[in-house]
Amino acid sequence: MKPLKRVLILAASPRKNGNSTLLALKAAEGVKAEGGEADVVEIGHLKIAPCNACDSCITKPEAGCVIKDDMQLLYRKIRAAQGIIFATPIYWFNMSAQMKLVIDRAYAIQDKQYFAFTGKDVGVILTYGDVDVFASGGVNALRSFQDICSFVKANLVGTVYGTANKAGEVQTNRELLQKAYDLGKKLVNPK
Ligand SMILES: Cc1cc2nc3c(=O)[nH]c(=O)nc-3n(C[C@H](O)[C@H](O)[C@H](O)COP(=O)(O)O)c2cc1C
Repeated sequence: MKPLKRVLILAASPRKNGNSTLLALKAAEGVKAEGGEADVVEIGHLKIAPCNACDSCITKPEAGCVIKDDMQLLYRKIRAAQGIIFATPIYWFNMSAQMKLVIDRAYAIQDKQYFAFTGKDVGVILTYGDVDVFASGGVNALRSFQDICSFVKANLVGTVYGTANKAGEVQTNRELLQKAYDLGKKLVNPK
C-alpha cells in the first residue's frame, strides 16, 4: 500500500479564530479528502526563540540545534513531512515574526545541498487587512516564500491569499475557503 503523504501545516496566527488559521484548517480538510495526512500546528502558541547564529548546527550537525525549546518538536515534524503549508498573517508588509522565527530556526536542518524544506511540496496561505495583495504587503511575503523555495529546491505548489481583518472574518469568504481547500488537495497530488 502507498504510504500516506504527510502534510505539515504551520499556522502562525497568535489569535483565536485567526483568519490564516481558519484557512489552514480548510487546507487540512483538503489534504485529508485527497487521502493525505494533515498535521496542523499553531506555531503562534509555541515558545520558540530566535536563531542566535551560533552555527553549532553546522559545526556539530549530529547534535542539532542547541536551543531546546518547542522548535525541537517542529524539527521532527518537518523532517517527517513530504509537504508543508505555511499559513501566516501579514504583519508590517511581510510574513509574521512567528512564522519567520520558525523558518530561521529551520536553518539547523542542513547538510551541504540539503535544507529543511528541500524536495518538499510547499503551499502558502496569507491573510491581511488591506484591500489587496499589493497594498497589504502580501507580495513581499510571496516573494520571500518564492525565494526560500527556489534556494532550497522546494516545490512551490500554490499560494492562497486574501483580505480578512477581524478574527474569524474569513468564515464568510466562501471563495477563499474553497481555494484553501483546493490547495490542501493539491499538496497531496501536485501533478
Ligand atoms: C502587528 C500587526 C501588523 C499588521 N500589519 C499589516 C500589514 O502590514 N498589512 C495588512 O494588510 N494588514 C496588516 N495587519 C492586519 C492582519 O494582517 C489581519 O488582521 C489578518 O487577518 C491577521 O491574520 P490572522 O487573523 O490569521 O491573525 C496587521 C496586524 C497586526 C496585528
